[in-house]
Amino acid sequence: MKIKEKIIKETIRSLILNGSEKNCDPIIIKSSNKQKSDYQSNGIMKIAIKLKKNPKKFAKNVAKNINKKNFLKKITVSDPCFINFFINSKFIEKRLENILICKRLKIKKQNKKKIVIDYSSPNIAKNMHVGHLRSTIIGDAMVRIMEFLGHNVIRENHIGDWGHQYGMLITYIKEKNIKNISKIKLKELEDIYKKSKRKFNRSKDFKKKSKKSLIKMYKNNKKYISVWKKIVNITLSENKKIYKTLNITLKSKHIKGESFYRNMLKNIILDLKKKKIARKKNGKLIVYLKKFKNKLGKKMGVIIQNEDKTFLYSTIDIACIKHRSKIIKANKIMYYIDYRQKRYLEQVLEISKKAKYISKNLSINHYEFGTILNKKNKPFMTRKGKTIKLYDLIKKSIKKSKKIILEKNNKINRKILKKRSKIIGIGAIKYFELSKNRKKNYVFNWKKILKLDGNTYIYIQYAYSRIFSIVKKSKINIKKIKDKIIITNLEERKISIKILQFEEIIDDISKNSYPHILCNYLYNLSTNFSKFYEKYYILSEKDKKIKISRIKLILIISKIIKIGLNLLGIKTIKKI
Ligand code: ARG
Repeated sequence: MKIKEKIIKETIRSLILNGSEKNCDPIIIKSSNKQKSDYQSNGIMKIAIKLKKNPKKFAKNVAKNINKKNFLKKITVSDPCFINFFINSKFIEKRLENILICKRLKIKKQNKKKIVIDYSSPNIAKNMHVGHLRSTIIGDAMVRIMEFLGHNVIRENHIGDWGHQYGMLITYIKEKNIKNISKIKLKELEDIYKKSKRKFNRSKDFKKKSKKSLIKMYKNNKKYISVWKKIVNITLSENKKIYKTLNITLKSKHIKGESFYRNMLKNIILDLKKKKIARKKNGKLIVYLKKFKNKLGKKMGVIIQNEDKTFLYSTIDIACIKHRSKIIKANKIMYYIDYRQKRYLEQVLEISKKAKYISKNLSINHYEFGTILNKKNKPFMTRKGKTIKLYDLIKKSIKKSKKIILEKNNKINRKILKKRSKIIGIGAIKYFELSKNRKKNYVFNWKKILKLDGNTYIYIQYAYSRIFSIVKKSKINIKKIKDKIIITNLEERKISIKILQFEEIIDDISKNSYPHILCNYLYNLSTNFSKFYEKYYILSEKDKKIKISRIKLILIISKIIKIGLNLLGIKTIKKI
């Protein structure tokens, strides 16, 4: 069990004894000053005021009634009204031993839930670009974390594979009599897409034909569907390569794009009409939402069907929510979509709620993210103002990493060089992305991504490989050693408590979806190790018991780094 949780439980019990309500929050936080205490309660003042009691006296009474059990050594009260908790070193040492021999480092599974994670979701007939980086990398890290915590995770790659642009593409392909579509390269397809779009915007006749083509697709016309499938496959096989290179767990079986819902849309429309949620206006079917205002300050109207009876992105998302709720019976949907779709998604959710498509035991969250910027704080693009292709970015990172490795060791075996530079190049990009608070925009900066110190993948990887080599040199067989971990100084205590907090960190991320918290944690743990290594002997420590204890301790650190990075979808190597 997480220490923090234990402290909260005990404190609340004492608070209730002292007259507080059941749902009070003692606000337990990790103390920044370890000499003063390990944890601190900051919420006592507020509760005392509410109960009209003298704060300091109240805090003292609460502290007195807290059961220290086996895990607390000391509880003190400090001005004006804080309760300080000191954890028992014996408890910490025992816990560390358990963590060391446990594969999942004693991290408990949560109550199993069925969770749909909607992420990556690129559009078809286009190369995946840097804009898809965030959803893909953050979403995949969350998939790994939720699975690690024992949930039944359903990955859904909600690709943009349906809608008027396919009617447009097919019409263009037919008109230009383009043959052998399955042999077309994605680059050519992108070109065809651009040309057909231009034509679509210019020619009314072409627009009309495109709409007819889309209707044929809706009617499942064999020829049209076959061309459409080929177009989709060209993009998918290219995306598959990117997922594989980036070590993303998305496979073909996780694709459940917009087209999957196409046959459900008619019923959705009928149902929304029947329930008097949608109204016809100027030939369009619209849902008016009181909660949202349009530019004129009036009720916002969301279109769910066009005059020509075709459906929209929103109609599909409504059908999708209903499907995930009623058919998949999910307990949770986690969306990883750009912040610009925040309002859109809120509206879609509101409509689904009105239509009673969301079951009681289903919670839905949008974990939005900001934009990747260039050094001039503009959206990250090529010099010509084009989007940067993900593949080019990956290649560049691998090339730069190769240079870094060669600078350190130019005699390295070429095969090993290739393997390591790939792991580092990809790890560095993924780590940089994940180390940023997802809600904020960030500047893409090669120098920072591949820095050897600071909160980067390479820095953490260095700490990891250093520990690896120390443990190897020690020639100690952990399984055969009887000596236990002993905490002999403040630094060891600090590192040990940090180790115990790993579970809290993972738990926190599972609730709020901020993977950068794990990056910060791994970075701090690595710096703690480096500082410790500078100050104390490990291999050359004369006291054998202390030496073994220290090796065990750093071994746990390396295990945490490995598991932590793997949960983020990042590989580790024994040597840089
Ligand atoms: N295809 C969309 C885009 O590239 C993202 C889809 C996100 N998921 C969803 N259920 N709407 O912008």
